[in-house]
Amino acid sequence: MIIALDGPSGVGKSTLARALASRLQFSCLDTGALYRCVALSVLLAGVDEANEIDVSKLAQTATIRFAPQNKVFLNGADVTDDIRGARVERIVSVVAAYPRVRAALLEKQREIGSLGNYVVEGRDIGSTVFPNAECKFFLTASLEARTRRRLLQNQEKQRGSVDEQEVRNMLAKRDATDATREASPLVCPSDAVRIDTSDKTFEEVLTLILNHVYEAC
Ligand code: C5P
Repeated sequence: MIIALDGPSGVGKSTLARALASRLQFSCLDTGALYRCVALSVLLAGVDEANEIDVSKLAQTATIRFAPQNKVFLNGADVTDDIRGARVERIVSVVAAYPRVRAALLEKQREIGSLGNYVVEGRDIGSTVFPNAECKFFLTASLEARTRRRLLQNQEKQRGSVDEQEVRNMLAKRDATDATREASPLVCPSDAVRIDTSDKTFEEVLTLILNHVYEAC
């Protein structure tokens, strides 16, 4: 069974996906981490992110592996923290817009999802990666709410920017790129349950999703 959790940056998908997976005893797949790994490969290889062909080659050859405790390995190295850095954030949406990058990662996502029950979070899970997912959710929140949450997260984890304006601009820019690209843009699938989380607590959203999963899916 697949539960698809899509939505823009900073909406709280990752935390919710992990909590949901733990409550349902599902595994959890953070598809953004795959795109972040490609962005990090680009930086490490010194490739120009505007060069679609070179970036796509890196995506096709990268070995990305997930390990317990949400660890992510790229070509054998632990990149769990590195993929969350500001340099990766700046280019990730650019590389994620390339159709060949998406094609390379699509296979990987389907392969992982076929291994069992998964909560899969991303931007195009319900629309493209798992269009037949048993349950689909699309989370939204105002830019202000998402900026506040991301700032708090960066402060707590001591990574990424803690400058409010910079965080707001980065989220807005990434969302615009993700929503307007031609290949698998960020969209709410017509059969997804749409939840605006701006004025809801984490527990409220989790309960709402769980109730839908138990009743509707
Ligand atoms: O979810 P996260 O913020 O880690 O995603 C990083 C970026 O990866 C997104 O801004 C988006 O450009 C890309 N992404 C995507 N499709 C997905 C997941 C992430 O294009 N399914």
